[in-house]
Amino acid sequence: MTETDAVKLTNITKRFPSVLANDNINFVLKKGEIHALLGENGAGKTTLMNILYGLQRADSGTIEVYGRPVSIHNPNDALSLKIGMVHQHFMLFEPFTVIENIMLGREIHQCGVLDRKKARKKVVDLSESFGLTVDPDSYISEISVAMQQRVELLRILYQGADILILDEPTAVLSPQEIVEFGAILRKLVTSGKSVIVITHKLKEIIDFADRCTVVSRGKVVNTLSVSDVDAHALASMMIGHELQAQVQSHKNAPGPRLLSLQNIYAEDDRGHTAVQGVTLDVHAGEILALTGVDGNGQREIIEVLAGVRKASSGSILLRDQEIQNYSPRMLYESGCANIPEDRHKDGLVFKFTVAENIALRTYRNYVEGPFLRFDKMNHDAVSLIQDFNIYPADPMHAVGEMSGGNQQKVIIARELVDNPEFIVAAHPTRGLDVGAASYVQQSLVQEKERGAAILLISFDLDEILQIANRIAIIYNGKIIAVKSASDLTREQLGLGFAGIAE
Ligand SMILES: Nc1ncnc2c1ncn2[C@@H]1O[C@H](COP(=O)(O)OP(=O)(O)OP(=O)(O)O)[C@@H](O)[C@H]1O
Ligand SMILES: [Mg+2]
Repeated sequence: MTETDAVKLTNITKRFPSVLANDNINFVLKKGEIHALLGENGAGKTTLMNILYGLQRADSGTIEVYGRPVSIHNPNDALSLKIGMVHQHFMLFEPFTVIENIMLGREIHQCGVLDRKKARKKVVDLSESFGLTVDPDSYISEISVAMQQRVELLRILYQGADILILDEPTAVLSPQEIVEFGAILRKLVTSGKSVIVITHKLKEIIDFADRCTVVSRGKVVNTLSVSDVDAHALASMMIGHELQAQVQSHKNAPGPRLLSLQNIYAEDDRGHTAVQGVTLDVHAGEILALTGVDGNGQREIIEVLAGVRKASSGSILLRDQEIQNYSPRMLYESGCANIPEDRHKDGLVFKFTVAENIALRTYRNYVEGPFLRFDKMNHDAVSLIQDFNIYPADPMHAVGEMSGGNQQKVIIARELVDNPEFIVAAHPTRGLDVGAASYVQQSLVQEKERGAAILLISFDLDEILQIANRIAIIYNGKIIAVKSASDLTREQLGLGFAGIAE
């Protein structure tokens, strides 16, 4: 370890009952660098970072911070060593304002009194010096996901973090926001901070990291300087072989209209009109991508289609049948599938096993008189586990103890299991490694070719340009353009995201 090392992890090993999550890992974060950590879903990235942040204890191994051996038992220990972490699932309190969230638990006291003025000044200074522009007085519930992420960053900076750990920060950002985020990271390291960023997006690593470490099945494969590699080399290092060819999509002619949104208006949680007269048809045998910067009404449309939010007016027809008053269960039974955006909130029962979570959709197949056929359930889950490369490959494994990407695979496997006619897929590949993402994209294409109508909500431009037949751009609750995917360029999509359509 040299003076320029911010963190040095040596021989870190962590075993969970059924997997060796970290197997003798050596990792060095140099002072002032952006270090990307990449690897397949379940490779052990989050576990390693949780150990550095004191959320988990390693079974063995040592941690040095700025050259000094340390033991980190909890996040407070980490913080006193100037280590801060932003998790993929933000930990902000919605009913509070930005400034309140940043100050929570860390107020500057003067003679025992909260010195709000001083705190505010510190927050404003931080946000100016790093380009983390946010309105300190907005409520968390009112700001976009990208803004919430800035608040999380400001919070750990406010707490004095010099070593920043960011777990998949860009998964929730649109392309333009990712560019801005890269600039923020650069400013942070220029000022002497050191950053570890977990990501599955190889292009981002090339664009903004200095070095990267590839992990696979708990082991470090390699640490290298980003200037020495390209995305292909990274991908094959990660999965141990060359990445498969691109997703194959045939140009089949779409069939009849299957789902129709007609002049839909809907309010968001605060009672503001978030969806303003959206009309869209999705045909059998097509993937229609609905895209735009997050927070432009997509969430409300998804929820209306999932039967969990009521539209204030308009109608939704499935095969010309009004389905607005359908419950989620009735929607399932009419052949609708739903890959939700937030697997923590809507997708999974964490205490249940993989097989049970998959059977949430098809449980009727397993009812025999008063009994549930768990043996059959587990048996059926095995083939899906194989198809989707779910890890650990054990139908009895509790979903709550799996890595984020593997949880996402469980949801997708479940939703596609019984040949649904209409599929809402919200950010289906978010958090998936490159191999898993292309498998899921291929699966959606297969569903489409089988005749399903798919509404894909995504702002991954590569994804939508590759698999969508048509693309609808949403801005401020309105559809501002619907075009054939082959007629749109990345630049036009970028403009559309900013509300500019020809
Ligand atoms: N609390 C836990 N209990 C039991 N096993 C766990 C727990 N947390 C993680 N694991 C297991 O440890 C392994 C590594 O998980 P980890 O979350 O570190 O992966 P990851 O690289 O972050 O993956 P992803 O890209 O999917 O987020 C996985 O096999 C996971 O099932
Ligand atoms: Mg993870």
